Amino acid sequence: MAATVLVTGGAGYIGSHAAKALKNAGFTVLALDNYSRGWREAVKWGEAVEMDLSDRAGLRELFQLRKIDAVMHFAAYAYVGESVGYPALYYRNNVSNTENLLEAVVAGGSPPLVFSSSCATYGEPREIPITESHPQEPVNPYGRTKLIVERMLADFETAYGLRHVALRYFNAAGADPEGEAGERHAPETHLIPLAIHAALGKIAQLEIFGDDYPTPDGTCIRDYVHVTDLATAHVLALQKLLDGGGSRSYNLGNGTGHSVREVVAEIERVSGREVPVRVGPRRPGDPAALVGSSALIGAELGWKPEFPGLKGIAETAWNWHLRSGA
Ligand code: UFG
Repeated sequence: MAATVLVTGGAGYIGSHAAKALKNAGFTVLALDNYSRGWREAVKWGEAVEMDLSDRAGLRELFQLRKIDAVMHFAAYAYVGESVGYPALYYRNNVSNTENLLEAVVAGGSPPLVFSSSCATYGEPREIPITESHPQEPVNPYGRTKLIVERMLADFETAYGLRHVALRYFNAAGADPEGEAGERHAPETHLIPLAIHAALGKIAQLEIFGDDYPTPDGTCIRDYVHVTDLATAHVLALQKLLDGGGSRSYNLGNGTGHSVREVVAEIERVSGREVPVRVGPRRPGDPAALVGSSALIGAELGWKPEFPGLKGIAETAWNWHLRSGA
């Protein structure tokens, strides 16, 4: 019988792509979401479980009623700016609710878990590319919540034998190449969807947050990694854990940085439209450049991005926006 994977945040951007990858790999998916930020129509590759991770009794019952062989934990808030203004929201949802989940996981026999972590756990980079051994000194509450969960997982492994993999993404981007899932946030704050909205005339212009950084064109550099490649990495990590592999932390990026202006130019190229821009002030908390090395997961799990460049990211994102109206 196919192994069953509980995917928390299964109606979200990365969780929905992971659900599709799991289904394609032969797993049965339980997609848990409270739909506070996820979308009901994004649950297409498994059974929907509507639940909030604050529901401790509900979680315990779920693990008692269903045979859950593994967990992928995506459910979290993920706006850096919001986390600065409303830290309680982030500590409650990303930390306290994860602790509820982990207690239920342990009560359910400690099936292995893949955790959605972030390059935000590193903070201001001391060197580029960032490897997994880079110090973790987050500079905002969002990054701190992700780091606390990484530490909590290590403690739960020591105490209860909970094996896990933490995947630290750089900038998740792009959409399902078959157009069945994509990036949609309300409000939208991310560069690529906003550049597409500007190309489509949904917003008057894209604001570039600062062009006076110490980078070749003055705009911030990020490592954009395709969401389908992230999903593949989750399945590889899960399979390794199910085969008895030990706990690990891996970066997920492409090892190449692209500036805001380069991203805008790529959206203009794939859309054939102009992206109107205006340059505004820097956004507080944005490091000039963030680029990650994913050599470790390549060597240990054989992960190799299918969409290593901006082209595949921009094309799939553009197609998804046209198709979904997002
Ligand atoms: N940017 C703009 N204008 C915009 C939006 C973004 O110029 O309207 C720039 C940002 O300054 C940044 C780049 O585009 O340089 C990417 O910004 P995003 O908001 O798309 O992504 P972030 O790098 O801020 O955030 C992502 C994830 C977070 C994670 C963070 C880790 O969305 O969850 O990476 O650094 F915490």
